[in-house]
Amino acid sequence: MNKATRKTVIAGNWKMNKTPSEAKALITEMKPLVADADCDVVLCVPFIDIAAAIEAAEGSNIKIGAENVHFKASGAYTGEISADMLKEAGVEYVVIGHSERRQYFGETDQTVNLRTLAALNAGLKAIVCVGETLEQRELGYTETLLKYQTKMALTNVTKEQLANVIIAYEPVWAIGTGVTATDDQADEGNGYVRAAVAEAYGADVAETVTVQYGGSMNAKNAEGLLSKVNVDGGLIGGASLKAEDFSIIVKAASK
Ligand code: 13P
Repeated sequence: MNKATRKTVIAGNWKMNKTPSEAKALITEMKPLVADADCDVVLCVPFIDIAAAIEAAEGSNIKIGAENVHFKASGAYTGEISADMLKEAGVEYVVIGHSERRQYFGETDQTVNLRTLAALNAGLKAIVCVGETLEQRELGYTETLLKYQTKMALTNVTKEQLANVIIAYEPVWAIGTGVTATDDQADEGNGYVRAAVAEAYGADVAETVTVQYGGSMNAKNAEGLLSKVNVDGGLIGGASLKAEDFSIIVKAASK
């Protein structure tokens, strides 16, 4: 295992929070706090905030991402946003397959795969989310499920395209609950994801893939989680809405 072979990426996922003016204010506050980061810093924001966020982040090390993308290039899909639209708007990253999308909006492993391919083909970087529910964990399915979700999401993704894929292990029971996975649980889950990538693409390739942990990561627990060999960063919900807390996590990842 060698953490040095891959990028550390701290990404915020704002979910359905912040209006455009609030987005601008938060990014303006964050910019100086994360300016000397020794990791990649990304904020994934609601579609409506993208223009304001890109303007506010200009000249800084903060990259802007979206929270979803449709898999079709264009057409009669009311309310959806295509990968080309995001690309032209200046978006660099997109979250795909978040458990909230799977849970509330009928996202399946197949649509996660299609969205991933659409994002990669448009030149976006995909942050693909996987994770087990508490029930699945208690039944002993965590490893099987994480490997299945990972392989399904990456179906037909080439080895070259994998360089633009980040996988986020987000145990559903840890999201927004204040219950964080222990450092070892996070490391283990991320390890299953990496093992799935190794089974599909080879161990050498798997060593290069950034695997984030997400689920109640905050200013207090980030350092421990990020110290683990398989944890190459974080996907941060609640704590990414507070400039100071987010910057502390970025600092923990920069050590
Ligand atoms: P919280 O950090 O609020 O638990 O959310 C995690 C998450 O879902 C990030 O995508």
